[in-house]
Amino acid sequence: MAVAKSLSPGWFDNIAIGSSIPRDLRIHRTHVAEGGGRIVGFITHTTVDDKADIKWIGVEPGSQRKGIGSELYAVVEDELRRAGVREVRVETVSELTEYEPYERTRAFYEKMGFRVEKVKKTISEDTGEEFYMAKYVKALGPEPS
Ligand SMILES: CC(C)(COP(=O)(O)OP(=O)(O)OC[C@H]1O[C@@H](n2cnc3c(N)ncnc32)[C@H](O)[C@@H]1OP(=O)(O)O)[C@@H](O)C(=O)NCCC(=O)NCCS
Repeated sequence: MAVAKSLSPGWFDNIAIGSSIPRDLRIHRTHVAEGGGRIVGFITHTTVDDKADIKWIGVEPGSQRKGIGSELYAVVEDELRRAGVREVRVETVSELTEYEPYERTRAFYEKMGFRVEKVKKTISEDTGEEFYMAKYVKALGPEPS
C-alpha cells in the first residue's frame, strides 16, 4: 500500500487507495519487487477460465524506468503461460483522455506487447468526471521451444 499511495493522486484515485487496492491485495495473486530491504513495486492479477486480468501494477516514482515493472510483468506472464492461460488483459486510461501520466503507462503496456482491443466511455465514481478507458490485450502463444 505504501507503493500505491506513492502513486496517488497521479494514477490511483481515492477509491482505489481507500478500498479497491487494499481489498484486491488480499484476494488477487500478488507479486512484489524488493529493493534496499523494502517493497518498491507490485502487480496483482486474477484469472477467469483461460484468460487473465492484470488488476493493479505500480512502481514507486523514484524506482521507475529501471526495468522493475517489466520484471514484475515478466514473472506473471511466465506463470500464466505455464498454467495454460492464453490471453492477458488490462484496462487503463485511453489516449482519448488527455492526461500525461497515463501516456507513460500506455507506453509501458505497449512495450510489454499489449494492443488496444476496445475503448469505452466511463464515469469516475470518485470525481464524477467522464473519461475513456482502453482495454488492452495480449495473446500468449505456447512457450518458444
Ligand atoms: C507503468 C509502470 C508500472 C512501469 O514500471 P517501470 O518499472 O517504470 O517500467 P520499466 O522500467 O520496466 O519500463 C519498461 C518500458 O516501458 C516503457 N516506459 C516505462 N516508463 C516510461 C516512461 N516514463 N516514458 C515512456 N516509456 C516508458 C518503456 O518502453 C520502457 O522500456 P525502456 O526503458 O527500455 O525504454 C510504472 O511506470 C508505474 O508505476 N506507473 C504508475 C502506476 C500505473 O500507471 N499503473 C497502471 C495503472 S493501469
